Amino acid sequence: MRATARANTNIALIKYWGKRDERLRLPRNGSLSLTLEGLGAETTVEFGACERDRLEIDGRERTGRELERVSALLDLVREQAGLRLGARVISTSTVPLGAGLASSAAGFAALAAAAAAAAGLELSPRELSVLARRGSGSAARSIFGGLVIWHRGSRTDGSDSYAEQLCTPQAWPLAMAIAIIDAGEKAVGSSAGMERACRAPAYLHWEATAESDLLEARRAVAARDFGRLGLLAEASATKMHMTAAAADPPLVYWRAETARLVSRFASWRAEGCEAYFTVDAGPNVAALCRAEQLEEVARRLRAEPGVLRVLCCRAGGGVEILERPAAAGRPAS
Ligand code: DP6
Repeated sequence: MRATARANTNIALIKYWGKRDERLRLPRNGSLSLTLEGLGAETTVEFGACERDRLEIDGRERTGRELERVSALLDLVREQAGLRLGARVISTSTVPLGAGLASSAAGFAALAAAAAAAAGLELSPRELSVLARRGSGSAARSIFGGLVIWHRGSRTDGSDSYAEQLCTPQAWPLAMAIAIIDAGEKAVGSSAGMERACRAPAYLHWEATAESDLLEARRAVAARDFGRLGLLAEASATKMHMTAAAADPPLVYWRAETARLVSRFASWRAEGCEAYFTVDAGPNVAALCRAEQLEEVARRLRAEPGVLRVLCCRAGGGVEILERPAAAGRPAS
């Protein structure tokens, strides 16, 4: 009962920021992201390999909170498959070391796909997205490649809060250059960050505009309106960080270098280098661009003070099953 899956990470253009149900990881708003080629995780799950769940990430045995979170996802799979076996989980990250981009999105998408396949569950991509969401919200989007929407949904059981692909990487060849400003672990992760930000009065503005921003972004994708999509991404990231900075106590993810970098984009665009920024719950800056301008954008980012390195990624594909139990059927995607 062993299977291996690989998933790419994704970076949101319209951010997921806040949960309406912590246990089911139901978002307060829908979000939209780009899946990135080559930045992700490869995970093997083997049920029955040990009595209690064991987890190894990048060659190191993990316990405590990390293992608990993985076991909680495995429990959902065991429940659906009627299994009572412990599992050995071995995961390796395909993110370059020292990039500071440990991604729960890719990790939980690969885990959900590998665990479901190992248990012999035949899940549709949508069902897989719902399962991955229970591990980490953003993982719901990493099941798919290209531009992906994750619907907020309205049901209390979360069955309509899943992701789906809006556009393949081939249909709109976009890319991202990620400027690493700090490769260290962040002090306050996204889960805790969004929980704190939700309690800030500034969050009311976020809630009032997130769904309409998403609708606009969806329209921009349908019309292949790159400029519109880019500006909406910048607005979403900026608003998200405003809610964090207005929280009590304040949560400032940006560094001086983040602000300086972000302020460069408008003048780059005026010079014909069309890139738009986004910033996750950390100081690093991701630049969205068309694939043909990726090298130019990366060159400009590298030349800025405080940028340690730049990762270049084209839009990537969805989760893949690399190995599944011999008697099992078709891949879920
Ligand atoms: C800022 O998906 O890591 O990257 O559901 O608590 O695991 P949990 O949160 P997570 O949050 C991602 C937040 C974000 C924005 C985004 O990816 O949409």
